[in-house]
Amino acid sequence: MRRASLNSYFSKASIKRLEPMIKDITSKLLKRLDSASTSREVLTMRMVYKAVTSDVINSYAFGKSKHEIDMPDFNAPYQLGMEKLNDVIYVLMQLGWLFPLLDMLPDSLASWTVPSLVVHRKAKKEWAVQIDNIRETQDEKIDTEDNVFQGLLNSSILSDADKSTERLTVEAFVLVGAGLETTATTLMVLTYHLLANPPILRKLKAELEAEIPDASVLPTFKQVESLPYLTAVVQEGLRMHSGASTRQQRIAPDEDLVYTDRARAKKWIIPAGTPVSMTPTLLQYLPEYFPDPNTFRPERWIENPRLDRYLLTFSKGSRICLGMNLAYQEMYFVLAAVFRKYDLYDGAVEGKGPALQLYETVRERDIDMVAELAVPSPEVGSEGLRIQVMG
Ligand code: HEM
Repeated sequence: MRRASLNSYFSKASIKRLEPMIKDITSKLLKRLDSASTSREVLTMRMVYKAVTSDVINSYAFGKSKHEIDMPDFNAPYQLGMEKLNDVIYVLMQLGWLFPLLDMLPDSLASWTVPSLVVHRKAKKEWAVQIDNIRETQDEKIDTEDNVFQGLLNSSILSDADKSTERLTVEAFVLVGAGLETTATTLMVLTYHLLANPPILRKLKAELEAEIPDASVLPTFKQVESLPYLTAVVQEGLRMHSGASTRQQRIAPDEDLVYTDRARAKKWIIPAGTPVSMTPTLLQYLPEYFPDPNTFRPERWIENPRLDRYLLTFSKGSRICLGMNLAYQEMYFVLAAVFRKYDLYDGAVEGKGPALQLYETVRERDIDMVAELAVPSPEVGSEGLRIQVMG
């Protein structure tokens, strides 16, 4: 049921309806950055952006969030617990039969074998409670288009089995799991590359200043999604950091797949039922398509607009990322808001506007993918991008 029933919630038109909610969460983010400038606290941006994307997806899925962006620690202990699942998920993905077996273990045994499973179980229980609460209230006044689970529960197409709490909790895991970390870490990587490349940041800021003359007013979705340089920046971030790095497996069960290699006048036939897979991270660093692939260079997307044929970060085809439109809007909006307001710290606070400074962040250790753990991961123990807010 997942794809058919959820598709309409993630169309471009539906995502536009989320503009007030995303604006509200972004303005809270800016307030938190402001207050960090007074305290000179070091911000772990992975956690800051996770609070943003968590509030967005939870607000949309359940009609309410935990307001993580307002929490003093951005709910970091909870998010760190959830991240621990990445330490085992890449193994579980290869051994599909193991997950249901582990799921049968009592908490005491599970916490001994795979401790992160217990955190995941706790999250599942919380989602089940939220779904049951929505089921019990079934508030007619709540617009089902603004609350995914309210909409699914009200659906006249879904069967009772599809609407069971157990079934919908699995959907909650997919939505929150797929929508939170991917977008947050891509935002983190983009923020790093902008702060580490002053000429690129200057170019982006010039575009933002021309489009949004008053820095104190948040832009509209329409304004930010039409900006060519911002779009190129986001594409380059998605190329270098593919959010979900695991190989994407597919089987065409009933038909042979035929590929024609025109250059060599050859035809390739993949027989029906053959498992095939591809890994976006490998393809997106091929110098034939992306010369100098380790360099963050948004201009490549403007020089060759057809490059997006080779951008596979969201996958393609029938299982393309369901939340792609949401992810783009979050990235456009948050980056535009943050970088319209903040500049790169140049060493002088006096008389300057608000600025961001990299804090003990080393690209090779904290930003680049060092390990493939279903998500592109930095070195073990890395905190990712850290910044200080100045001015
Ligand atoms: C930068 C951010 C994101 C990236 C890079 C990303 C990437 C992907 C990829 C590669 C897939 C396909 C996996 C496969 O084929 O095996 C996928 C599927 C999916 N994504 Fe995303 N995603 C992002 C954000 C989101 C967001 C914000 C949501 C919101 C709910 C979301 C929901 C989903 C869902 C539900 C699926 C499963 C679709 C299906 O199986 O039909 N994703 N995503």
